[in-house]
Amino acid sequence: MSHYLLKTCLSKRSVLCVLLFNLWMPPAADGSAKNVLFLVVDDLRPTLGCYGDTIMNTKNIDNLASKSVLFEEAYVQEAVCGPSRISFLTSRRPDTTLLYDFFSYWRVHAGNYTTLPQHFKEHGYITQSVGKVFHPGRASNFSDDSPYSWTNKPYHPSTFQYKMSKVCPNKDGSLGMNIVCPVEVDKMPEKTLPDLQSADFTVNFLKNMSKSKEKKPFFLAVGFHKPHVPLKYPKEYKDLYPLSKIRLAPHHTLPLRLPLVAWNPWNDVRSRDDVQALNVSFPFGPMPEHFQLLMRQSYYAATSYMDVQVGRVLAALEENGFANNTIISFVGDHGWSLGEHQEWSKFSLFRAATRVPLLISIPGVTHSRPWETSRRGEKLFSFLDPFRDSKSDSSKYNDSLNATESYQGLDVFRSKGQAFGRKFVTVGDVVKKYVNSDVTLPFKTKALVELVDLFPTLAEAAGLPTLPLCPKDPFNTMLCTEGASLMPLIKNITQKSSSQVKNIINMHAGRNKREVDKNLETNILHYSYSADDNVQTKKFLKSQPSTSLNNAIKTLADHTLALNSINSTEIHYSQTERNTNNKIIEFKEDITLYEAARKCDPSFVPAYQDKQHDESLHHWKQAVFSQYPRPSVEPEKDSDEPHLKNMHFMGYSMWTPDVRYSEWARFTPSDYKVHWADNYGRELYLRGSDPHEAHNLALFDWCQPLVDIMSERLRRGWRYARPA
Ligand SMILES: *[C@@H]1O[C@H](CO)[C@@H](O)[C@H](O)[C@H]1NC(C)=O
Ligand SMILES: *[C@@H]1O[C@H](CO)[C@@H](O)[C@H](O)[C@H]1NC(C)=O
Ligand SMILES: *[C@@H]1O[C@H](CO)[C@@H](O)[C@H](O)[C@H]1NC(C)=O
Ligand SMILES: *[C@@H]1O[C@H](CO)[C@@H](O)[C@H](O)[C@H]1NC(C)=O
Ligand SMILES: *[C@@H]1O[C@H](CO)[C@@H](O)[C@H](O)[C@H]1NC(C)=O
Ligand SMILES: *[C@@H]1O[C@H](CO)[C@@H](O)[C@H](O)[C@H]1NC(C)=O
Ligand SMILES: *[C@@H]1O[C@H](CO)[C@@H](O)[C@H](O)[C@H]1NC(C)=O
Ligand SMILES: *[C@@H]1O[C@H](CO)[C@@H](O)[C@H](O)[C@H]1NC(C)=O
Ligand SMILES: *[C@@H]1O[C@H](CO)[C@@H](O)[C@H](O)[C@H]1NC(C)=O
Repeated sequence: MSHYLLKTCLSKRSVLCVLLFNLWMPPAADGSAKNVLFLVVDDLRPTLGCYGDTIMNTKNIDNLASKSVLFEEAYVQEAVCGPSRISFLTSRRPDTTLLYDFFSYWRVHAGNYTTLPQHFKEHGYITQSVGKVFHPGRASNFSDDSPYSWTNKPYHPSTFQYKMSKVCPNKDGSLGMNIVCPVEVDKMPEKTLPDLQSADFTVNFLKNMSKSKEKKPFFLAVGFHKPHVPLKYPKEYKDLYPLSKIRLAPHHTLPLRLPLVAWNPWNDVRSRDDVQALNVSFPFGPMPEHFQLLMRQSYYAATSYMDVQVGRVLAALEENGFANNTIISFVGDHGWSLGEHQEWSKFSLFRAATRVPLLISIPGVTHSRPWETSRRGEKLFSFLDPFRDSKSDSSKYNDSLNATESYQGLDVFRSKGQAFGRKFVTVGDVVKKYVNSDVTLPFKTKALVELVDLFPTLAEAAGLPTLPLCPKDPFNTMLCTEGASLMPLIKNITQKSSSQVKNIINMHAGRNKREVDKNLETNILHYSYSADDNVQTKKFLKSQPSTSLNNAIKTLADHTLALNSINSTEIHYSQTERNTNNKIIEFKEDITLYEAARKCDPSFVPAYQDKQHDESLHHWKQAVFSQYPRPSVEPEKDSDEPHLKNMHFMGYSMWTPDVRYSEWARFTPSDYKVHWADNYGRELYLRGSDPHEAHNLALFDWCQPLVDIMSERLRRGWRYARPA
């Protein structure tokens, strides 16, 4: 806007001027505006090489990660496709989209909220949807929210219609509607598969865009279907994961003291022919171990197959000259339990279901500019073939630093004098070297982030108008966010000097062994509290002060086995909190609250009070949130995917750097009210010692002070956990 116009506007305040002020200048037509490639993968958990999973062959995503900021602690707002996608595409939580199932369209049901692609479209971008971006059907008005979100007609692969078809070969030569479904592509209907078609379309789209005379920037959203069930993929990908290398999930048995309302009975898995044949009991299972291995193998194989499609898209971006001016985000719409806790699928508050991979790549910010330096001509992205030089064993990673990393959730780098287990570092986790392809990860962060943060982040990264925070009554505000832009974090992380990174590596190398020993000590301490609901283990620990570390571990391991062999009928004792209140009273001990909390986690209370977290995270989110509805306290057939009218309970979960805390409360679907006082279960997991969320401590007397603190924070909600 010219100076003259501005002056006139200020003096006259005319309607025209209001319009002018609200008008955002269209992106420069000279091609300097940045494009956006928005990659979203159905049911993808961070089972990827770049997330430290040594079995995985995901070279193309790892390569993207090496040019991105990798978020290690990214959480979805509800672990099921429709609600999660509508949430991150509008930057609002399910309590604002009012979509907890698949059966309403937010524009008419909640509010006429502006979406992420719509924001780009309204600012001069060509927007294109490929595959599954919005949840199809009613949740997006049977049109993927067209015409509001998309310039072009959304593309859906024609072969998606065979999702429920009997096309998976059984051993006897017959065909089934199986979950484990390696196939010969030539024998498939139309001789192709959905993600192959989506990648083909995307490659053509990029070709077209590079030839186009109209130099508009694009927002290209590509939604891959795999590794969503059925695990249908070209069978050669199975060869990347020999069965002998597959392991069961850690903590693959039904956890003690899990409130039953937390359980998801994985009906989408059960309903498949091959699983039906196993006669797995409802609602807990377990799935036979050999089949657990087969499912994990096929999830990995389907992930590598998807990785190849990502590689094809990235290569096309490069070949068509867009690599140096395209912002890329890569995300899973929610996680997937792969046998942890005896659970499968999503539909829960477990971290396995709520945590996702999130990569954000911004030219000139998260990666250098080879086109401006001596490396001119070097490619950012070239296709990486998973079958070349692949050793399907863990030796492909340089795991010389793996010891402490196996304690996920504990940070591996800690500064001197600081208690371990609670320092989360934003910079320089440059530890993984992908030996074959020489990929390093320059920027990893353990900062807690949520998918509602995506929309404001991409808007800011592309230079579009930023999103204000939604008001407390958000229903009449069309453009706002219930998240926060990640750009301040991304800038912080990427601007740290390389010398700092080096120091951290050196520090790490020297401290490795001692830290591991210390971690083991804490594990024992925590374990004893969690494994015990009579006084046995406590006594055991007290009586064994001089036991050597190794003996103590062994004894506790035996104890674990005994506890884990408990059968599913026995879990009923912990059904609702009401039933267990007596227990709490029985265990009341005459100790001060502070001491009680210290016993629950010796390092926790000081951490919370002193806020000794990494300095660069002081101004970042204190906690992240997710929720899940249930029809009943005991698992029923519709517990995974209840309809709104049957949702009588709502679980809310919060992750801080130290704990996961959840409450399951009564919910009334007619007015969307949560009745916190009617509590049907609590869960408390200490992340440092129990990263797999296997030992619910919420009902222990000595953890009540911690539960009280966390309960208050959970009920206050996300608004109070925002960056200061
Ligand atoms: C909803 O928003 C869209 C896009 O801004 C607009 O075209 C449409 O008229 C709005 N609908 C209603 C009912 O306000
Ligand atoms: C939803 O789709 C129907 C059928 O195409 C259309 O008539 C209606 O206007 C759409 N709703 C909105 C809010 O655009
Ligand atoms: C590319 O352009 C051709 C010719 O205009 C058109 O037929 C085709 O549908 C376009 N493909 C995509 C994916 O945009
Ligand atoms: C599964 O259960 C059905 C009926 O309960 C029984 O007829 C069948 O033999 C069982 N199959 C296996 C493999 O156990
Ligand atoms: C991207 O690279 C091309 C050459 O490959 C160059 O002409 C163009 O200016 C570069 N764009 C940016 C934003 O650096
Ligand atoms: C792994 O990393 C360590 C430390 O950086 C190095 O000494 C070793 O040579 C590496 N091994 C391989 C196989 O690259
Ligand atoms: C890394 O893990 C492997 C397998 O668990 C183990 O054999 C190896 O000793 C570990 N490396 C270090 C440095 O601890
Ligand atoms: C499971 O536990 C119940 C209750 O303790 C017991 O009656 C039953 O025999 C157990 N079943 C098995 C298979 O161990
Ligand atoms: C970024 O770092 C500076 C100092 O290094 C700090 O003041 C600021 O709060 C940090 N911001 C975020 C979002 O981490």
